Amino acid sequence: MSARAIVLAAGKGTRMKSARPKVLHELCGRPMLWWVLEALRAAGVDDVVVVTNPQLDPLLASFGVRTAIQSEQLGTGHAVRIGLDALAPGDGCVVVAYADMPLVGASLFEDVRAALDPDARIALALVTARMPLPSAFGRILRHPRKERVERIVEAKDCTPKQLAIDEMNAGIYAFAEPALREVIAGVGNRNAQGEFYLTDTVALLAGSGRRVAAVSAADYRTVLGVNDRVELAEARAVLNRRLCEEHMRAGVTIVDPATTYLEPELVIAADVTILPGTSISGRTRVGAGTTIGPRCRIADAAIGSRCDIRESVVLATRLGDDVRVGPFAHLRDGNVIGDRVRIGNFVEFKKSEIGDDVKANHLAYIGDASVGARTNYGAGAITCNFDGVNKNRTEIGADVFVGTNSSLVAPVTLGDGAITGAGAVVIRDVEPGGKVVGNPARSIATKPTEA
Ligand code: UD1
Ligand code: MG
Repeated sequence: MSARAIVLAAGKGTRMKSARPKVLHELCGRPMLWWVLEALRAAGVDDVVVVTNPQLDPLLASFGVRTAIQSEQLGTGHAVRIGLDALAPGDGCVVVAYADMPLVGASLFEDVRAALDPDARIALALVTARMPLPSAFGRILRHPRKERVERIVEAKDCTPKQLAIDEMNAGIYAFAEPALREVIAGVGNRNAQGEFYLTDTVALLAGSGRRVAAVSAADYRTVLGVNDRVELAEARAVLNRRLCEEHMRAGVTIVDPATTYLEPELVIAADVTILPGTSISGRTRVGAGTTIGPRCRIADAAIGSRCDIRESVVLATRLGDDVRVGPFAHLRDGNVIGDRVRIGNFVEFKKSEIGDDVKANHLAYIGDASVGARTNYGAGAITCNFDGVNKNRTEIGADVFVGTNSSLVAPVTLGDGAITGAGAVVIRDVEPGGKVVGNPARSIATKPTEA
């Protein structure tokens, strides 16, 4: 049966004590709402309406998802009505989920969809979970003998006897759409909170001869919502652990998952080793046999095979194979670095193309430059790429020797095989094979060239 979904996200989330709407707080680099949408997508549900409030709605543009605004938060039943108004009527399945449950995976959505069976008069399937008491969750009331789900009572409306029930409404539903449309209009708001409860549809369906199926969640912790920043941190730890386990099962060694911070959508080859205190994020890809860590921050990088990156920051940079980085290197955005390059301590690269076998082992800066193969870039040497107004390029050929503490004042070109002396301030181009020293650097000799 085809399925569409309504995701409820219009609540205020006041316990976050934040200027940012609750469902936009991030876990493992993705907003809370992203996780729910991703689980639905993985369960085959692409057509989704998110019920938002007027503050949240404009912030969801980047999600590329349909929204419907609930101006006043009159309850989950009211919110679903608004979601339904945004959907052209159909006769399939409508999944309803809450946006603040980032730990719910695709399989629970699949299970609840599979349990829906209008032919057998099952017009609603919902997820329940056994939980430790006390709990603020709605209680599942079953028929004493037939075991059928008959009603959900919200905790605030429960009698003491009902509060002792430990089977809870998780808040994940699959409705037969025509039945949902039929009963949602009959939901009232005479209850402890004066709200229109979605959960009242259960008694309305059961009372009209339809059946309600229950799917039990194996682990109640996956259906706990996030209400404050303590729960946000707990949920993040669970998601991070899941991401680490996925990669470990695929052949990645993660020495300490608790201090390894991963995001979804990473591509990490087998036999990569990740050492403690490392964060890998964005669209990063890592080739086989590479070691990263301890204490690295890697974002949106493409890293080759057999590299060794220690205590360094690598951002939006492409590294070849067998590259050594760090400790304490900073590769900023836009670098393309060849194979077997050595980048040592306190070295910074930005927007530069670096050829194979280049060495920059100590205290150096290369920005807006290209460096040819096998060039040795001495300790303390820098490209002076900024003249106070413009960024200028430095072109360094192959097999160049850039002496210690050289300042390459851009725009400037060093031809293949050029040499700069220690402390040279290079303000003019150096011809291939040329040798310059001093401030400003002057040519002192030219290597004999073949006639
Ligand atoms: C709800 C269920 C309860 C269940 C629990 C599980 C109802 C009436 N109760 O209770 O049975 O055990 O979830 O977590 O559904 N929302 C809107 N518009 C509104 C009100 C809420 O979009 O007018 C959204 C909220 O943003 C939230 C979700 O709906 O994402 C759930 O609302 P919430 O107020 O948290 O319901 P609970 O009291 O937790
Ligand atoms: Mg809640």
